Amino acid sequence: MPAAIIDGKAIAARITGEIAQEVTHLARSFNLQPGLAVVLVGEDPASQVYVNTKVKKCHELGIYSDRRVLPKNATMEELLKVIDELNHDPKIHGILVQSPPPPQIDEAKVVAAIDPAKDVDCFHAVNVGKMLIGDSDGFVPCTPYGVMKLLEYSGVNPCGKHAVIIGRSNIVGKPMLALLVQKAKGADATVTCVHSRTPDIASFTRQADILIAAIGKPEFVTSDMVKEGAVVIDVGINRVEDASAPKGYRIVGDVAYDEVSAKASMISPVPGGVGPMTIAMLMFNTLKACKLQNSIR
Ligand code: GUN
Repeated sequence: MPAAIIDGKAIAARITGEIAQEVTHLARSFNLQPGLAVVLVGEDPASQVYVNTKVKKCHELGIYSDRRVLPKNATMEELLKVIDELNHDPKIHGILVQSPPPPQIDEAKVVAAIDPAKDVDCFHAVNVGKMLIGDSDGFVPCTPYGVMKLLEYSGVNPCGKHAVIIGRSNIVGKPMLALLVQKAKGADATVTCVHSRTPDIASFTRQADILIAAIGKPEFVTSDMVKEGAVVIDVGINRVEDASAPKGYRIVGDVAYDEVSAKASMISPVPGGVGPMTIAMLMFNTLKACKLQNSIR
């Protein structure tokens, strides 16, 4: 039997529907509007699409947004000045600098300059630390948070399961590991993280009850790497050339969808899986930042 599809678009719509209701409540009861600043340096086409999608979603949910686009040759000084302005702007509760920036930008310094209270990406060391120790006063990074919500809404309880993560990035792999291993409801998994220096990756992935692919390689996970009945979450968003596609490329995940869906029990598609969840959780974090900054529980 082919795998059940984990519909990220539908789950994200349920979550953003609840966020929109809370945004309305904040306006009525506290005269408050959550605000998100999205900063883009340069003209990378994929980043432009992501930034526009985030701004559009803010608009849909009644969240104020401020898009700042700096030229591709912008200096660190110029970018840090923008961050400082946004740190002090009372209309802005969340700040996101789209990654990856151009090479002259030191991303670590930029992240460190963002006020941790406005760090809705959860990239700042303070928030990464809070997440690791399970302190709920910080943030959870949007993509791994989206994966946890996909599992929850699909009725997959990671407790006691073997979760295998492919990839060890700061944005996905490492926080995913921290969230799944947490002693908490909806977590409590045994977790393995494999990466580019792991010999025989398939020998680990074949043990996975829950397999999370976040390696950034098109269709890397093939059916021989997957255990029968596994739950497979595909975090990859890769552009591959396709002369027959209208734009000359198409988007594929890190999982060879057709063959893996014949073996898995559940699978998230690309597009329509993790992608919409990342944006939904960004909106959630912006709302949370607004409430925390105004001491609203
Ligand atoms: N680029 C790809 N994913 C992300 C993300 O979650 N946040 C930011 N700021 N940039 C990204």
